[in-house]
Amino acid sequence: MKRIITYGTFDLLHYGHINLLRRAKALGDYLIVALSTDEFNFRKKNKNCYFSYEQRKELLESVRYVDLVIPEDCWEQKISDMHEYHVDIFVMGDDWVGKFDFLKNEGVQVAYLPRTPEISTTKIKKDLNN
Ligand code: CTP
Repeated sequence: MKRIITYGTFDLLHYGHINLLRRAKALGDYLIVALSTDEFNFRKKNKNCYFSYEQRKELLESVRYVDLVIPEDCWEQKISDMHEYHVDIFVMGDDWVGKFDFLKNEGVQVAYLPRTPEISTTKIKKDLNN
């Protein structure tokens, strides 16, 4: 059983997110999403979410590729998550390329998947504003 983990905010869930989740799940058998909490988004990532943590979590849990959603409260939890959740592969979009290579020291494979072009939560918000 290969276990995969990915991290993110996933606000206003869109097809770029779904593409990422589908390809992440295809790398193994069990996909965990560490979902940024509202406070972590606001304080550390400078993001004010449209949907609350509970709403974003419910949306992700209804996606067929996602097996488990856990909270992401801080940047530092990744190393302990790798062990606690027996992770084999850590996956992120390629906007993060190289940033999490240090997790290889924990015995996990690190993969950066190409982002889906021309879509992001920021873009949706901006387009709707205009
Ligand atoms: N992602 C992707 N393709 C996109 C948008 C996001 O593959 N077009 C991936 C990101 O690389 C990340 C995950 O989806 O691994 C969650 O990204 P998130 O930051 O929540 O989504 P964005 O749409 O990029 O949000 P924002 O505009 O607020 O940064």
